Amino acid sequence: MKFFSSALALVALTLQQANAFAPQVKNIGNFLAKSNPNSSTSLAAMDDAMKNRLEGIRRSYQALTERLADPDVIADSNLLMKVMSDRSKSEDVVNAYEEYSTLTEELEGATELFQEAGDDAEMREMARAEIKEIEERMEELEDQIQILMLPKDPNDDRNVMIEIRAGTGGSEANIFAGDLADVYRKFMSAQGWKVSVMDESRGDDGGYKSITLDVKGDMVYSKMKWEAGVHRVQRVPATESQGRVHTSTATVAVMPECDEVDVKIDPKDIEMSTMRSGGAGGQNVNKVETAVDLLHKPTGIRIKCTQERSQLKNKDLAMKMLMARLYDIENEKREMEEREKRGSQIGTGGRSEKIRTYNWKDSRCSDHRLGQNFSLSDFLNADIGKMIDAMTAKDQEEKLKALSEENQAV
Ligand SMILES: *[C@@H]1O[C@H](CO)[C@@H](O)[C@H](O)[C@H]1NC(C)=O
Ligand SMILES: *[C@@H]1O[C@H](CO)[C@@H](O)[C@H](O)[C@H]1NC(C)=O
Repeated sequence: MKFFSSALALVALTLQQANAFAPQVKNIGNFLAKSNPNSSTSLAAMDDAMKNRLEGIRRSYQALTERLADPDVIADSNLLMKVMSDRSKSEDVVNAYEEYSTLTEELEGATELFQEAGDDAEMREMARAEIKEIEERMEELEDQIQILMLPKDPNDDRNVMIEIRAGTGGSEANIFAGDLADVYRKFMSAQGWKVSVMDESRGDDGGYKSITLDVKGDMVYSKMKWEAGVHRVQRVPATESQGRVHTSTATVAVMPECDEVDVKIDPKDIEMSTMRSGGAGGQNVNKVETAVDLLHKPTGIRIKCTQERSQLKNKDLAMKMLMARLYDIENEKREMEEREKRGSQIGTGGRSEKIRTYNWKDSRCSDHRLGQNFSLSDFLNADIGKMIDAMTAKDQEEKLKALSEENQAV
C-alpha cells in the first residue's frame, strides 16, 4: 500500500482547497469521535448517514465471516471463493472503521484523564500527548476511509485480455511492442498472476506485430487499465545503421474479461471462414484447416486465430476475443463519459490517447497524463508499480474533488 501516503497527501490538498467539503465525507470524524451534544443538528444528521453506511458494511462483513464457517459453504468451493472474495472487498474499510471506533473510546478515556488530572501538571501533559496521538491517527483513518468508500470501478477485480500492437515505425515498432510485452510479463509474474499467450504475430526482425495475453489474478484490471493507450518510443533502432533516432509507437488495449452475460452476440452476425495455418509449426500445418477467421458484421471487427492446433479451439478463442473487444467498446464509452463528467485529466482521450513517451537518450519515461518523468531503466526492469500507484492516486484525487464539488453544488 505504498501509494497510500502519496494519495493521502493529495487528499489533504484537496480538502484544503475545498473548504466546505462534502459534509458526509468531511465530517466523518465528528460524528464518531466527539459525541458533542452541542454540535449543530444538520451536521449531526449527515454524520449519522455516514455512520449508518459504515455500520451496514460492518454487519454484512460479519455475516460473510459467519458464512465461512457454514458447512454448506465450505463444501462448495465456488461458493466459498465467492464468499471469501466478497468479504475481502470490505475488509480494509471494516478494519479502519473498527480501529476508529476503538480510538473513539480511547479518546474519551484520555479526555477524562485530562479533566481529572487537576493540578497535576505531569499527568495533564501525559494525557495531552495521548490525546494528540490518538487524534492524529484518527485523522489518518478518516482520510483512509474516505478513499475506501469512493465508488469503485465495476471492472477492477476482473481478469484481462491485453493486446499489444505495433503502430507506426515498421520493424522498430514491432521490436518496441516486444519490449513492452517483456516488461508486462515480468511485472505480471512478479504479481503472481497467470499469463498465457492467446495469439501472436511475430515481427520479421523480432518483437511482435501484435500479441494478445490472457492475464488472470487478483485485481488485474485495477492495475493494468492504466497501461491502455498509445506508447511512443524515441531511440536509435537496433536495425538502424545511420545512428538516427526514430520515433515509433505501440498501442496497448486492456480489455476486462467478460462472458455471455455481459455481451450478447447474435450468431447471425458472425461470418466465419477457416483456412490452413501458415508459417512454421507442427505436422498439421498446411494439411488441416485449423486457422479461424471470424468477422463480426455489425462492427466490422475481424479476428484471426491460429494459436491452437484444432479448429474448434481456435473458434472458441476467437469468440472469446471478440466478446472482450465488444465489451471493451461499451466499457470505454462508459469510462469516458464518467471521466468527462468529473472533468478528469486522465483517460478522456480513450484508447487512442498518447499516454507515455520513452526516451532512450534522456533515460526517461514521461507519463503525459501525470506530467511526470520516471526512470527508463526502472520501467525496463518492470518496476512499474510506482507509475500505476501514481495513476491510482490521481484518479482518487479527481474522484474526491468531484464528490466535493457535487456536494457544494447541492
Ligand atoms: C455544551 O454547551 C453547554 C452550554 O452552553 C456547555 O456548558 C457545555 O460545556 C458544552 N459542552 C461541550 C462538550 O462543549
Ligand atoms: C520531463 O522531461 C522533459 C524532457 O527532458 C522535460 O522537458 C520536462 O520538464 C520533464 N518534466 C518534469 C515534470 O520534470
